[in-house]
Amino acid sequence: MRVLLIYAHPLSDSLNAEIKSVVEEGLTAAGHEIDLIDLYADRFDPVLTQDERQTYFEDPFQREDLAADYAKRLMACEGLIFIFPTWSMGPPAILKGFFDRVFGPGVSFRLDDKGNLHPNLIHITKAAAIVTYGRERPILWWFGDPPRRLMKRWLKWFLAPGAPVYFVGLYGIHKINRTVSKRFLNKVSRVMAKF
Ligand SMILES: Cc1cc2nc3c(=O)[nH]c(=O)nc-3n(C[C@H](O)[C@H](O)[C@H](O)COP(=O)(O)O)c2cc1C
Repeated sequence: MRVLLIYAHPLSDSLNAEIKSVVEEGLTAAGHEIDLIDLYADRFDPVLTQDERQTYFEDPFQREDLAADYAKRLMACEGLIFIFPTWSMGPPAILKGFFDRVFGPGVSFRLDDKGNLHPNLIHITKAAAIVTYGRERPILWWFGDPPRRLMKRWLKWFLAPGAPVYFVGLYGIHKINRTVSKRFLNKVSRVMAKF
């Protein structure tokens, strides 16, 4: 399967970087082809421009620079995986901007004459998100766990009907030790083996 891997972390010595390596190894071992979008390495500009907003509801709207290239790659994949840390109870701004600028009419959905939205990433039959959190799970539960909902509900709607979205979250990162993070990386590896 051709898998688009979208990674949003600025540091190469972070836990998220380790997760990315485990995901890449797991996908390669399972025989998948990986197309990596490393948003920080690409210096992706997450800000929707004035022109992009002006044409946003045209199908397809006029994306500029890297966003147009990312949109093509999103339309060419069969599997989709996100790796990111939770910042301010959501994805890092660079990933939020990826959704603003790349997802949209003509790419992730179609808007019909009556104003109804239709999913348009129906070529994607499997997705996964690996997300880390500083806070513990009960606190995230109280907040409604926005990253989990973003992936399990918002993202899922755009995909092929019934496409699974595997969510692997590591909570309370400041209180865990190396044994716990190693166990988490093993879990990520197991999910990739089944992807
Ligand atoms: C700018 C920033 C905002 C953060 N906001 C949250 C937050 O709202 N909720 C939370 O659970 N953790 C938050 N954290 C903690 C990160 O989720 C945590 O540091 C990260 O998941 C650890 O992974 P890493 O070592 O790979 O960066 C924040 C961290 C940063 C740097």
